[in-house]
Amino acid sequence: MIDIWTEKHRPSTLEDVIGQEEITERLEAFVENDSIPHMLFAGPAGTGKTTSAVALVKDLYGDQWKQNFIETNASDDRGINVVREKIKNFARTKPVNADYKIIFLDEADALTKDAQQALRRTMEQYSDNCRFIMSCNYSSKIIDPIQSRCAIFRFNRLPEKRVREYITNLGEKEGFQISEEAIKAVMRVSSGDLRRVTNILQTAAIKTDKIEEEDVYGVAASLRPEEINRILEKSLNGDFIKAREELADLMIDRGLDGQDIIESIHREMFELDIPDQAKLELMEHLGEFEFRIAEGGSSDMQIEALLAKIGNLEN
Ligand SMILES: Nc1ncnc2c1ncn2[C@@H]1O[C@H](COP(=O)(O)OP(=O)(O)OP(=O)(O)O)[C@@H](O)[C@H]1O
Ligand SMILES: [Mg+2]
Repeated sequence: MIDIWTEKHRPSTLEDVIGQEEITERLEAFVENDSIPHMLFAGPAGTGKTTSAVALVKDLYGDQWKQNFIETNASDDRGINVVREKIKNFARTKPVNADYKIIFLDEADALTKDAQQALRRTMEQYSDNCRFIMSCNYSSKIIDPIQSRCAIFRFNRLPEKRVREYITNLGEKEGFQISEEAIKAVMRVSSGDLRRVTNILQTAAIKTDKIEEEDVYGVAASLRPEEINRILEKSLNGDFIKAREELADLMIDRGLDGQDIIESIHREMFELDIPDQAKLELMEHLGEFEFRIAEGGSSDMQIEALLAKIGNLEN
């Protein structure tokens, strides 16, 4: 069986969490004082929210961490009552050699306001022997009564320097080499999300132990900047049919869907050699087509329509 790198290399102590120093220091102080508040971890995917919660519990409780910790997804398909039931069962028994049990609730921002109210009552009910760590992408989606009961921690996307160090380090541990161009490509497509970085590298390293730029774009469900430029330029110059053909080929080759294409274009659009006004329009179109695809519009048709719109931009 192959190890999944994101699990294999997940830091097991706060000391090894990368690039979130302000947060890590505050959490370490809680461990030191053996006193923890309810907490809200907010920030983009793959920046260390779950990792920090687990590392905190391991640092606090050592070998006994498993007895004192559950991780549950707030947006369980079966509803908030199932989540509360699970919490209740866990909270009913005493912590093992500790003051508190810790409940990690992932995706708390996916809960409706009513469900969050219910959750707030659960938090209060078990405050004597439980601490909640809630994780979300957007803290603004969490109701005030919960926010005000929590210490809030804002996780940032990892800066390029730290991502670069992480990549080099992973290469040493897993025995692959990676070219400078490939490192740049990984940084470009992962935008500070270390889960994405790790998964891209693991997939690329299955094929080769000398990772090049092509290998990265091959596995990253992404287009290269040059490819996007070429397609957009064709479209802008009215060569819609060619642009469409080229894009369709790339989508099939790399297994990309509409969302991947929109993300790729969004990343490159600021570098395009077109007037600012056209960039603004393009940005609006991207938002609109993103929404249509997310709402279930056919990927192929929407992307074609997007290319047609691009063809009509002032340039
Ligand atoms: N700050 C970090 N330091 C070290 N490794 C990290 C860090 N952030 C992410 N990782 C790596 O990426 C993987 C995913 O991170 P994690 O599960 O903590 O993300 P998350 O912030 O909880 O994301 P999501 O919002 O998607 O739940 C981890 O297993 C780890 O390998
Ligand atoms: Mg997480």
